[in-house]
Amino acid sequence: MKKVYMDYASTSPVDKEVLSEMLPYFDKIYGNASSIHNFGIKAFNAIEVAREHVGNFINSNSDEIIFTSGGTESDNLAIKGIAFSNKDKRGKKGYNIITSKIEHPAVLESCKHLEKLGFTVKYLPVDKFGLINPNDLEEAISNNTFLVSIMFANNEIGTIEPIDEIGKITKKHDILFHTDAVQAIGKVAIDVNKLNIDLLSISSHKIYGPKGCGALYIRKGVKLQTLAHGGGHEKGLRSSTYNTPGIVGLGKACELGKKRMSKDVSHLINLRDRLINGIQTIEQCYLNGHPKKRLANNAHFRFIAIEGESLNLMLDDRGIAASTGSACSSEKLQASHVLLAIGLDPAEAHGSLRLTLGRMSTKDDVEYVVSVLPDIVQNLRNMSPLWN
Ligand SMILES: Cc1ncc(COP(=O)(O)O)c(C=O)c1O
Repeated sequence: MKKVYMDYASTSPVDKEVLSEMLPYFDKIYGNASSIHNFGIKAFNAIEVAREHVGNFINSNSDEIIFTSGGTESDNLAIKGIAFSNKDKRGKKGYNIITSKIEHPAVLESCKHLEKLGFTVKYLPVDKFGLINPNDLEEAISNNTFLVSIMFANNEIGTIEPIDEIGKITKKHDILFHTDAVQAIGKVAIDVNKLNIDLLSISSHKIYGPKGCGALYIRKGVKLQTLAHGGGHEKGLRSSTYNTPGIVGLGKACELGKKRMSKDVSHLINLRDRLINGIQTIEQCYLNGHPKKRLANNAHFRFIAIEGESLNLMLDDRGIAASTGSACSSEKLQASHVLLAIGLDPAEAHGSLRLTLGRMSTKDDVEYVVSVLPDIVQNLRNMSPLWN
């Protein structure tokens, strides 16, 4: 049976060039990068090269990059780290963070935790495409706002937020701006200086690097408190022995990502648009997210009278790996907070399908999905009491 992977927003395979760059760091150059002997120095030097590549990818200096275990840790470190460095002020005058209703749980749960500690958080609404309105941000800012955290692009519906305008507003008000760029990096050109971004989260496994590695960009001069006390690695911000193979892999992934971005993006847009046009011929199927301001690799649909989990299982039977785009949290079968925020009712939200493409996706993959999907949808609808 044909196998088609269309879940790149969930994770990506490691690029062959990334893998071969990493391999020596498992069994040949295995020294602890903090050691002063030659084994350690070689590992240290490789980490510094990786730091340069990550910095280059977002136009920051390499000494503004901290390595972490992934996007989740980067988001936690950015938000809680900034909040804890302002801890004296919490609870005093509603010391305030502004975020959006459609953030990844790594951001939302960090914010909820801070609310329990006495900080206040404002969650901005989004429109039917998933866009925040910069005027809402302006209105939400108070004298006590110290941090704005808005994602670069949404992981479910692929909408790209108005980061440029947000950066101008936070700069004008002298407020720190964090963005979770886990889904955007490699698909959108990012310049932290032009965009006035102060903190930016990156995850390696979404950009053809290894899992369990990530980075946080922290603009020079921005103070935050560590969440991991220990040996004082990464300027004391993130203690733990360096994951040298992972960091080398992330560095290589960024180097390749920068080199290949325009080729990658035009390849992805071609495939994505064929996917969207092909699938939208199915009756009562709608595109979620913004038609234009969307990630080059994201196609997210809702099908009336269909249950997204069943759709995914049937696609899996035909060799296609897709996702509901976190439509349900598996235990509670809750509708996705993102889909509810764009105004869908729970039944509509449950009928969703996320197809996400990557560098290795082919035209054949897309044609296979476009040919297989209509019958699967029809079969499910034939069984559905909600259909006609
Ligand atoms: C927008 C976004 N932020 C954060 C994360 C978490 O990244 P990681 O898996 O590296 O912890 C993800 C992963 O799906 C994501 O899509």
